[in-house]
Amino acid sequence: MQDKYIPAVDFVDKLELRFASLAGLYCCRPLDALINQSFFRRGIGNHMKYPSVVILTGAGISAESGIQTFRGSDGLWENHRIEDVATPEAFIRNPALVQRFYNERRRQLLSNKIAPNPAHAAIGKLEREYSGKVWVVTQNIDNLHERGGTRNLIHMHGEMLKMFCEHCWERFDIAGDISSGDQCTACGRAGGLRPDIVWFGEMPHQMEFISELLEHCDLFVAIGTSGNVYPAAGFVQRAGRAGATTVELNLEPSQVENDFITHRYGPASKLVPVLIDDIMSGEVISGANL
Ligand code: APR
Repeated sequence: MQDKYIPAVDFVDKLELRFASLAGLYCCRPLDALINQSFFRRGIGNHMKYPSVVILTGAGISAESGIQTFRGSDGLWENHRIEDVATPEAFIRNPALVQRFYNERRRQLLSNKIAPNPAHAAIGKLEREYSGKVWVVTQNIDNLHERGGTRNLIHMHGEMLKMFCEHCWERFDIAGDISSGDQCTACGRAGGLRPDIVWFGEMPHQMEFISELLEHCDLFVAIGTSGNVYPAAGFVQRAGRAGATTVELNLEPSQVENDFITHRYGPASKLVPVLIDDIMSGEVISGANL
C-alpha cells in the first residue's frame, strides 16, 4: 500500500513545481495549502497522519538490553554520586576516577551481552519504511539505536564510543579505555582526552537543530525517560505548543506525565513495536497500556 503512496507524492511534487514555475514563483501557496489539507492527504494514501515524527529516548529504552538506567532502585546514580563522575569539576578534581567510571561503561557496552532490543529495531524500521520524516533524539550514550538501524539520530548527551581532546577539540572514535596520561594524536598534548559525554552543567549537543525539529513535528514520542533532566524534559511542552500529538511510553508515569496528551505504560520492548505499527498503519495514536 505504501508503494502506491510514493508515486502519488511524486506526482504532487511535480505538479506543484510545474505550477510554481508557470507562475514564476519559488513556492506555490494555494497548492501548498491544498496538499496540507487532510482530505487531500487521505486521498493520496492512508499512511501519513503524522508527516514529521520526533522520538525522544532515555535510559529506559536500553534497560531491556542490559544497560542500567540512572534513577531506578538499582540505577547508576544509586551507587555513584553525580558530582563525583559526571561534572566537569569532577574531571578536574579526579580525572582517573571519572575515566575509570566511563571505561567500565564502555567495556560493558562493547561486551557481547549488550544488544539492541525490539524497541530499537522497531524505531529503525519506522525510519526505513515510513513515508514521513523520522528523527530520534536520544539522551543515551550507548550505540543501540545505530545498531537497531536508526540513522536520523542526535546524541544530545554525547556518545560513549567517542572522545575529544580538551586542548585542540579534535574528536575521535574510541573502543578501548581512555587514561588520563594519554596523548592526543592530533595535537600531541597529554591529559586532555575525555569521553564525549555531556556532563551536568554542560550544553547538550545540537540544541538548535532539535528546536527546529520540535517546532515542526506532528507527533512527539518520549520513550523510557523519567523527565528529571532538562532541557530534554521540556521538549514535550515545546512540541505540544507547536501543535504536535504528544505520547509518553514508559514503565511508569514520568515527572512530566501531565504535559503529554497520551500515555502508554509498560516495557519498551513491548510498547514500542505496537506504537510503530500504529503509526505506520495510519492510526490516530491514543493511550493503551501493556
Ligand atoms: N521500558 C520502558 N521504560 C523503562 C524501562 C523499560 N523496560 N525500564 C525503565 N524504564 C523507565 C523508568 O521507569 C524511568 O522512568 O525509564 C526511565 C529511566 O529514567 P532515568 O534513569 O532517569 O533515565 P533518563 O531519563 O534517560 O535520564 C536522563 O539523566 O543522568 C542523566 O545524562 C543522564 O541522559 C541521562 C539523563
